[in-house]
Amino acid sequence: MSFWQEKISIGTLQVPRFMAAPLDGITDSPLRQLIRDFSPTELLMTEMRHVSCVSNEKDQRSLKYRPVEHPLSFQFSANREQFLTEAVEKVIERGFLMINLNSGCPAPVVTRSGSGSALMADLPRLEMLIKLFVKAINGRVPFTLKIRAGYKQKNALEVAKLAEANGVDCLMIHPRTQPEGFTSRLDYALTAEVKKALKIPVVFSGNINKFETAQKVHELTGSDGFMIGRALWGAPWKMREITDAAVGKQFAISNAQALEYALKHFDLNLLEFGPRGFIPFKKQLPQYIRGVAKASEWRGVLLRTQTAEEMREHLVQLVEENREASCTVL
Ligand SMILES: Cc1cc2nc3c(=O)[nH]c(=O)nc-3n(C[C@H](O)[C@H](O)[C@H](O)COP(=O)(O)O)c2cc1C
Repeated sequence: MSFWQEKISIGTLQVPRFMAAPLDGITDSPLRQLIRDFSPTELLMTEMRHVSCVSNEKDQRSLKYRPVEHPLSFQFSANREQFLTEAVEKVIERGFLMINLNSGCPAPVVTRSGSGSALMADLPRLEMLIKLFVKAINGRVPFTLKIRAGYKQKNALEVAKLAEANGVDCLMIHPRTQPEGFTSRLDYALTAEVKKALKIPVVFSGNINKFETAQKVHELTGSDGFMIGRALWGAPWKMREITDAAVGKQFAISNAQALEYALKHFDLNLLEFGPRGFIPFKKQLPQYIRGVAKASEWRGVLLRTQTAEEMREHLVQLVEENREASCTVL
């Protein structure tokens, strides 16, 4: 068995090396269900939710998922002790197989309260939270931490050691600082230092959209696992394309199939979110249709739709036209 086929151990859980990254507003339950059509065993992660939200929300919306999404990890954000234990209890009761603490989100709306990547600039607070999570979880599911290179200053090495010493089972790293957002150069050397210093597995997150990139990341950093993030946006087959390439197989999807998936995604959104579900679907749409003829015109038409019915009609027309186009080619 090659390195790429081996599983990694995160606490008591064994998962494939490739896994899906959490993307707030994108990797929601409908996208995760569609990813399962292509990647049945890879770890998926919920979008980040604050402990107080999980503990207090009346409709328990953030805890909703479908069994097919397993193995599924829940991701928390937190900045204080209040509500943490209750929130952990709810997540474990609901059957999530892993808990992750977000210490990497760069958004000012999150960091302003001391959550997300701001935790990397406040190590006493981060340590206090890790200890509280470990105590509340009490070994029932693995506990993991997702970090950046640092907040304003790079201190991932120090944070990684603190995490391991306090019982974190796996470290996920997106090696950019908070001001660097999601676009600047990734710090492979820093990730390599982190990997060398830890016994727990290290999972790399950043710009992996093909197998060759994962190979390069592995060579440069020694990372054990590889997260696929934006590449899955409007492309639920992307992780499969990468895992197939890792075993020398080629996975291809036609424009017609991609559009059928767009329609399937749209229908799942209505099922999960009701008639207004076509609105969040608009975020996924441009990625699905980028390969079709007159993509920018179609994008304009679809993004301007005001009702689910209107959008479905257009999508069906797009699927039909492209099915005919594929037939003509054949
Ligand atoms: C729109 C968007 C939303 C994100 N939401 C989350 C989140 O909720 N939790 C998290 O840990 N990271 C979040 N991230 C970061 C990703 O998980 C990932 O680390 C980052 O996008 C780099 O990986 P990629 O280049 O494969 O996308 C988000 C990124 C984007 C672009």
